[in-house]
Amino acid sequence: MSIASPSASSSAPSRPPLPFASRAEHLVGSVIDSSVAMLAAYDHDIVKFGMGAPAPDMLPAEDFARLANSVFTPESFTYGETQGEPVLIDALLNYLQETGQIPAEHFGNRDRLVITTGGMQGIDLGFKLFVSPGDLVLCEAPTYTNGSATALSYEAEIAEVPVDDEGMQVDALEDIVARAGRAPSVIYTVPTFQNPAGVTMSLARRQKLLDFAHRHNSVILEDNPYGTLRFSGEDIPSLSQLSPNDPLIFGVRTFSKFVAPGLRIGWLDIDPQLRGLVINAKQTMDSCTSLPTQHMVAKWLNDGNAETHVAHLRSSYGERKATMTAGLERLFGDEIRSTDPDGGFFLWVTFNDETINTEDLMPVALEEGVAYIPGPAFSQTGDFTNALRLCFASAAPDRIEDGLQRLRRAVDKYTSTRSDARH
Ligand SMILES: Cc1ncc(COP(=O)(O)O)c(C=O)c1O
Repeated sequence: MSIASPSASSSAPSRPPLPFASRAEHLVGSVIDSSVAMLAAYDHDIVKFGMGAPAPDMLPAEDFARLANSVFTPESFTYGETQGEPVLIDALLNYLQETGQIPAEHFGNRDRLVITTGGMQGIDLGFKLFVSPGDLVLCEAPTYTNGSATALSYEAEIAEVPVDDEGMQVDALEDIVARAGRAPSVIYTVPTFQNPAGVTMSLARRQKLLDFAHRHNSVILEDNPYGTLRFSGEDIPSLSQLSPNDPLIFGVRTFSKFVAPGLRIGWLDIDPQLRGLVINAKQTMDSCTSLPTQHMVAKWLNDGNAETHVAHLRSSYGERKATMTAGLERLFGDEIRSTDPDGGFFLWVTFNDETINTEDLMPVALEEGVAYIPGPAFSQTGDFTNALRLCFASAAPDRIEDGLQRLRRAVDKYTSTRSDARH
């Protein structure tokens, strides 16, 4: 392959193209993550419904400031263990056991947990271990494209599986596999409070998915950052809870959404037989996992802060979601369809007018002072042009109200400019 090298002036001798690896061609940037830098360039007030980040008032920053002195000793600034600090692994295991987030079969098994640099590194490790160039990887459509982009970086071929109100349409899997002529190495799913749609895979579909994976010997990469943030409805067991001690389930978790994303700490919940390989793989990336934040979170968990904090998040996010759905209903009525999640961070809004292009709408929205992520950012094929993702977690209810009114104005401006252009 050849990727043009930076342009040389016409008088300079021409250089051969840089000798990029074949995988360089498959590196796709993240529209979602790039929005942070993009918004920083604006100096007027913008209500941020784009990035999936907890609001600053939802971060336990005061707890951390209080703990800092006791946690930050010289030992917390040296090289640490790649697989994570034992003090954090123990604290995390206790927390997961006490809150029933892992099946009883995994209780006491600290060898299942590996600390990662955020959930993203967990996703990367999963694909690194299980995807060879040309392998089939199944992803939801829409999906968290940072996940599918990671599969692409290992030269996977992606097949998309549609999502509806019950999550991934598992009944479509056999047809997709028959068409592809091979079984997937990995099925990438965010089954609970999905990013971007906010929907949750039903229990019946989870069971069918497990059955499919076992028949085809496919790994399920269960990406579950939002599962703990349920504010309504009944808990549905994770895939890893439904199938304990199952080496085909590669569980990716993170502290980013229920503690703080800037910590950059996540963890894997995996079969212990994968542990050695995962550590080898992580040692070729960042190795000795960053220590200070691990000590901070271990102490925060051991001091018993998580329960009250998560309860507060759940009730606040429930209130924010209700404000957002009510505002959408009032301001947009039957112009849109919206999902109605029981937890997590996101709503997925689809305009009934298929000619509304949310990428084209975006500059108008930014001018009006509101940001979202356009639908095409959530599929490798650029579908969902008339959809957008709204994060209800990042703004207080009065800001949500304000942001939706700005969005209403932006849509009116965009549609009237379009009709003026037609005349
Ligand atoms: C579905 C999903 N997986 C993984 C991540 C990445 O998590 P982290 O910020 O811990 O790397 C996110 C963050 O937005 C996410 O929504």
